[in-house]
Amino acid sequence: MFENVKAIPGDALLALMVAFKSDPNPNKIDLGVGVYKNDSGQTPILNVVKKAEAYLIEHEQSKGYIGTNGAPELGPLLQGLMLGQDHPIIQEGRIATAQTPGGTGALRVAGDLINAVSPNAKIWVSDPTWSNHFHVFAGAGVEVRTYPYYDAKCNALAIDAMLENIRQMPAGDVILLHASCHNPTGIDPSFSQWQQISKAVADQGLIPLIDCAYQGFGEGLEEDVQGLKMLLDLCPEAIITTSCSKNFGLYNERIGALSLVTENAEHCRVAFSQVANCIRANYSNPPAHGAAIVTTILSDSDLRQQWEQELADMRNRIHRMRTELVSSLQSLNCNRDFSFIQQQKGMFSYSGLSKDEVLYLREHYGIYAVESGRINIAGINDRNLSLLSEAINKAIQ
Ligand code: LMR
Repeated sequence: MFENVKAIPGDALLALMVAFKSDPNPNKIDLGVGVYKNDSGQTPILNVVKKAEAYLIEHEQSKGYIGTNGAPELGPLLQGLMLGQDHPIIQEGRIATAQTPGGTGALRVAGDLINAVSPNAKIWVSDPTWSNHFHVFAGAGVEVRTYPYYDAKCNALAIDAMLENIRQMPAGDVILLHASCHNPTGIDPSFSQWQQISKAVADQGLIPLIDCAYQGFGEGLEEDVQGLKMLLDLCPEAIITTSCSKNFGLYNERIGALSLVTENAEHCRVAFSQVANCIRANYSNPPAHGAAIVTTILSDSDLRQQWEQELADMRNRIHRMRTELVSSLQSLNCNRDFSFIQQQKGMFSYSGLSKDEVLYLREHYGIYAVESGRINIAGINDRNLSLLSEAINKAIQ
């Protein structure tokens, strides 16, 4: 079976992570893979997570299976976090949530579900999008197409081209939208652009698949789901994938969720049985620890408040580093305007650096960014800021 197998290139983002780790340069800078780093360049465990874990060590009773759909208390807590407890969709029983291994696991279950219930539906993703979206949906047997998203000339959302494209998509197809902190560009629709997008998606009879991987990293917990809520106001059905990797810093616990929104409670009950079937056929049931941490935090008002504060600290540090990068580049009188970086949201910035410039930074300075020019703003700190600015200034000359 294996003697004639051809090797395929590994995932470029993960390869970048490995290359960074093995670089002996003491001044190397990691702006590659999307994990939060604090001012010391560490990806910290949140204090509130440590507290929740201490509580769990005391109180956890069993390591038995938690069931196909995961911890039953997680779904309502995550639904409340996204929509607010009183949201009509929750009150009417039109939403059901299954715990998944990370946001990627949720996306894969979403792909399997689409393939199971509507095998001819295509999924439309933004150009550009997170590179793994293509692999995940192709792996689930769903055809992936792209719609325009990024206006490179203006470093802005290509809203007109995007809307025009949406209006050509066949009814019943799925459109993937990033709830906030668009990966890789950092460019989110404005309030009025979300209104236009939601209306076009609903008018066209598309099913929105909303990838909510960075709630709280952009402008705030509520602000980061304004587009998601607008879509749900106008579209009777939707799929939402949630990741707790970033906003809880629980990357390696693999904790996320898939929520299904349907037109009424009966559709929800029936369709959700298909979700359980996809999960059972894939990984049977999810790991418990990450969900136990998240439910412990979200169901205790003190822990929740502490979490919101730690999340705000991460968000504010990213905002500060955006501002400082822009002013540091301005102070070098560099010949390119980078001020757009301040308007972008979340960890990522499409910096406008070309592939050659990115490779120059890697080769000459040990600065690791994605070849598309995506940089992880959270990789910048007070100690590496001037070196980074000088290196960028050199790279663009
Ligand atoms: C990223 O885009 O860097 C993150 O979402 C991490 C990953 O798994 O690719």
